[in-house]
Amino acid sequence: TADVVPQAPEDPLFGLMAAYHRDSSNLKVDLGIGAYRDDQAKPWILPVIKKADERVRNDPNFNHEYLPIAGLSEYCLAAQRLVLGTESPAIKENRVCTFQTISGTGAVHLGALFLSKFHPNQSHTKVYVSNPTWVNHHQIFGNVGWPIAIYPYFSTESKGLDIDGFLGTLKTAPEGSIILLHACAHNPTGVDPTQEQWKQIAAVIIERRHFPFFDTAYQGFASGDLARDGWAIRYFVELGLELCIAQSFAKNFGLYGQRVGAFHFVSAPGAEATGTNRRIFSQLAILQRSEISNPPAYGARIANVVLNDPELFAQWEDDLRTMSGRISDMRKGLRKRLEARGTPGKWNHITDQIGMFSFTGLTEPQVQILREKWHIYMIKNGRISLAGLNSRNLDYVAEAFDDAIRE
Ligand code: LMR
Repeated sequence: TADVVPQAPEDPLFGLMAAYHRDSSNLKVDLGIGAYRDDQAKPWILPVIKKADERVRNDPNFNHEYLPIAGLSEYCLAAQRLVLGTESPAIKENRVCTFQTISGTGAVHLGALFLSKFHPNQSHTKVYVSNPTWVNHHQIFGNVGWPIAIYPYFSTESKGLDIDGFLGTLKTAPEGSIILLHACAHNPTGVDPTQEQWKQIAAVIIERRHFPFFDTAYQGFASGDLARDGWAIRYFVELGLELCIAQSFAKNFGLYGQRVGAFHFVSAPGAEATGTNRRIFSQLAILQRSEISNPPAYGARIANVVLNDPELFAQWEDDLRTMSGRISDMRKGLRKRLEARGTPGKWNHITDQIGMFSFTGLTEPQVQILREKWHIYMIKNGRISLAGLNSRNLDYVAEAFDDAIRE
C-alpha cells in the first residue's frame, strides 16, 4: 500500500499556521486562520467560558462517562433554540432532529454523509457551493462522493455580492440540487446577502425544489446579535422548507479545540405526523455510531452551561460584542490607514464586509511579498482574518499592504 500513496498538498490554513509558528521574526503577523485574538495578539478565553468551565469542573456529579450517540440532549435542544429561535415553529412541531458533532466540520460531514445515503436522485444531483467558499467544503463533500458545482458569489469588481450570477445559477441548476449556504459572515469573503436578497434566493430555491444546507459557524460575529445573525435560517424555516444546518461553536464560544458543534435536520411542516423525525434520528444514529461512536463531552458541557443559564447567556452576548466590536474597529483602522496613504484601489469593502474575514482583493504575488518581506501570513486568495490585527500592528500591516500593492 505505502508504495502507491502519493504526496498530498499541505492544508492551506493549517500549513500557513505552522509556517507562522516557525517564523522567528518578532515582526510577524498572523492574518491566516479564523480564530479570535485579543489586542495583544493572544487567544482569548471568553470570561463567560471561564465561569462555565469552573462550574463543569466543580460539579460533584462530573465524570468522564460516554455521552449518548446523539450527544448531550440538553445541549442539543439549546443549540436548536439558538439557531432557530425559541419560538421556531419547527421546534414547537417537533420537526428538528439534532446530533452533537465534532464542531462544524463534523456537522457538515454528517450531513453530507446522510444526504449521500438518502437524498433522492443521487445520480443527477450535485452540491452547489459559493465561489469562493471555505476550502474544506470541497474536501468534505468530495470525500463522501458528492460531485461539486459552484455558484457565482463574489463580484471582483464591486467586492460585494454577485446576486444576479448567484440567482442565475440557482435557476439553471437541476431541480433538487443541494445548495450550500453560509448563514452569516461568509467565509472567506465577509459578504452576506441582504434580507431582501435572501428572500430572492429562497424564492428560487422553492421554485426549483432545491435542498438548502446551511453552514453557520459565525453566529454573533456578523452583527454582534445572535438573533439577527440567525435571520436567514429562521426565514427559510418559516417558509416551510426542509433543510439542514451545520452549526459550530468554535468561534462564538472560542472553544476551537474542544470541537463543539451540532447537525440539525429540519423537516417540512406535517412531518411529525408521519414519524419523520424518528426515522431520521435512527439513521443518523447509525452513521454517528460508525464514525465517532459518540461525541466528546467536555466542551459541550461548557457550552451547555452557558446556553441554559440566562445570566451567563447575557454575559456571553457581552463577550460576543467585545469580539465583534474589536474586529469592527480593526476594519475601520485598516481602511483609514490605507486611504490616508493613498494606497492604490478602493478600500470601502474592508468596512462593508462583515464577520471575521475580509476578502482584500490582494493578489497571490502580493500575498507572497507580504509573507517573504514583511512576515505577514494570509491565505493566497487574499483573505485576511481581521482578528489578527491589533492596535500595535495596524500601522505596520497598512505600510506592508501599501508596499506590496505598489511593487
Ligand atoms: C478558517 O476558515 O480559518 C477556519 O474555519 C478554520 C478552519 O478550520 O479552516
